[in-house]
Amino acid sequence: MTATAVAHPNIALVKYWGKADASLALPATGSVSMGLDVFPTTTTVTVDGGSGDGLEARDAFTLNGRVVEDGALVRVREFLDLVRDLAGSDAHASVVSENTVPTGAGLASSASGFAALAAAASSAYGLDLSTRDLSRLARRGSGSATRSIPGGVAVWHAGDDQGSYAEPIPAPPMAMVVVTIDAGPKPIGSREAMRRTIATSPFYPAWVTSTTETVGDMLDACAAGDFTRIGEITESNALRMHATIEGAFPPIRYLNARSVAVFDAVAELRAAGVEAYATADAGPNVVVLTKPEDRGAVASALAGFGDVIESGTGPGARLVRSEGTGTPDPGVVPDRQEGAE
Ligand code: DP6
Repeated sequence: MTATAVAHPNIALVKYWGKADASLALPATGSVSMGLDVFPTTTTVTVDGGSGDGLEARDAFTLNGRVVEDGALVRVREFLDLVRDLAGSDAHASVVSENTVPTGAGLASSASGFAALAAAASSAYGLDLSTRDLSRLARRGSGSATRSIPGGVAVWHAGDDQGSYAEPIPAPPMAMVVVTIDAGPKPIGSREAMRRTIATSPFYPAWVTSTTETVGDMLDACAAGDFTRIGEITESNALRMHATIEGAFPPIRYLNARSVAVFDAVAELRAAGVEAYATADAGPNVVVLTKPEDRGAVASALAGFGDVIESGTGPGARLVRSEGTGTPDPGVVPDRQEGAE
């Protein structure tokens, strides 16, 4: 019983920041993202048959060739517990993951990581989940992973446990340019920073109200194929999220002077007639949304600010190998949007 899955990160155009229910990983608002076609995570889960009291503790996790024994192992183990519950199994597993996202740098490494883990683990434990249920499962590992299951441009619905999943939406052709200013770990993880923002930022209630409206505006802009509006909303929503986070106490500031310089350079590109819009997640790196035909020009213009990587719109999570699992071989996480609920 072994399965391998590949998933890609996604960058939110309308951000998820804060949970309505931490135990079920339900977000306070909906969000919208574009999946990338760079920085894949490849994860193999092997269910090795051992089971019984306390044996789950034998789950092993290797990330980029190194055995993990800290909090990341606990998170993987808790996630495997959810899969075991669904599968009615108490067998332990080994997880081997190759993650090409700079881990912890605010480039959504947990999104591709938990999306690949959800796809591989559910198959290795013999589950045959619909894309929707896989998205709900990935949500329990990390919120942003919900949106890496469908890939493409996707909306993640707020709601209850059944209703909070991501699905693809129609959108015009888009590309992104990732400007990596600093690939080191961030000073405070997004999970803790969300908690502090909710507890202490006076701006948080306004964030929830305005973002709920913004999701609707973004869905309209995507449906209309209005790239300019999508870009304007994307940059505005990112800055609102950072303002809300900076309002926490003690304050949290993810953007540094070089990040702000990239936002300025992107505004200059716009003034020069190139459609480009900046966004940033829980770290100093900046991601620039642009049209596919402009991505080369945007990448050249921003090359002086850090490592620059161009990305198109990426695929959803998919199984690339499954042996002895009783679930269909590759192809997987296919276009079955509904079903098995
Ligand atoms: C700023 O998905 O990493 O990237 O659900 O606690 O695992 P947890 O948080 P995570 O947060 C992502 C926050 C963000 C915005 C976004 O991706 O929507």
